[in-house]
Amino acid sequence: MSKADKYEILYRQVSFILEGETDSVANMANMAALIHEAFGFWWTGFYIVKGEELILGPFQGPVACTRIPFGKGVCGTAWKRKESIVVPNVEEFPGHIACSSLSRSEIVVPIFEKGRVIGVLDIDSKELATFDDTDREWLEKIAQLIKVTA
Ligand code: SME
Repeated sequence: MSKADKYEILYRQVSFILEGETDSVANMANMAALIHEAFGFWWTGFYIVKGEELILGPFQGPVACTRIPFGKGVCGTAWKRKESIVVPNVEEFPGHIACSSLSRSEIVVPIFEKGRVIGVLDIDSKELATFDDTDREWLEKIAQLIKVTA
């Protein structure tokens, strides 16, 4: 099965599981679990915008950093730029925050509400260059299923 096919199934699963549930923390928790299990990533989770920082939200995987300032690391940079960032090799991203020394590539996708970033979906892989435009496109679509004020 191609990566795009796997994402298509994942998108349907996530939509189904989130349907009828309005609590954003519960939805982030289930979304993280579904994505993590589908691809066997190293770390899959959310950081939520609170003031000038991102605070750790629901995740699957090892213990992670709890606070990331605006503009810092891959997560804070995706928030600042208001766009997804695909990092093929974390050692080559200036200011990358290493929560785990085993993480080698990463993707961060902002979640928008009324044009403002309200959080990010962050996924880490133990292999180099795990993520490409297929991941970015599908993860942007999936992440946007989170509605914080719903
Ligand atoms: N690597 C991220 C920090 C979060 S962890 O990967 C879970 C960053 O540079 O923002």
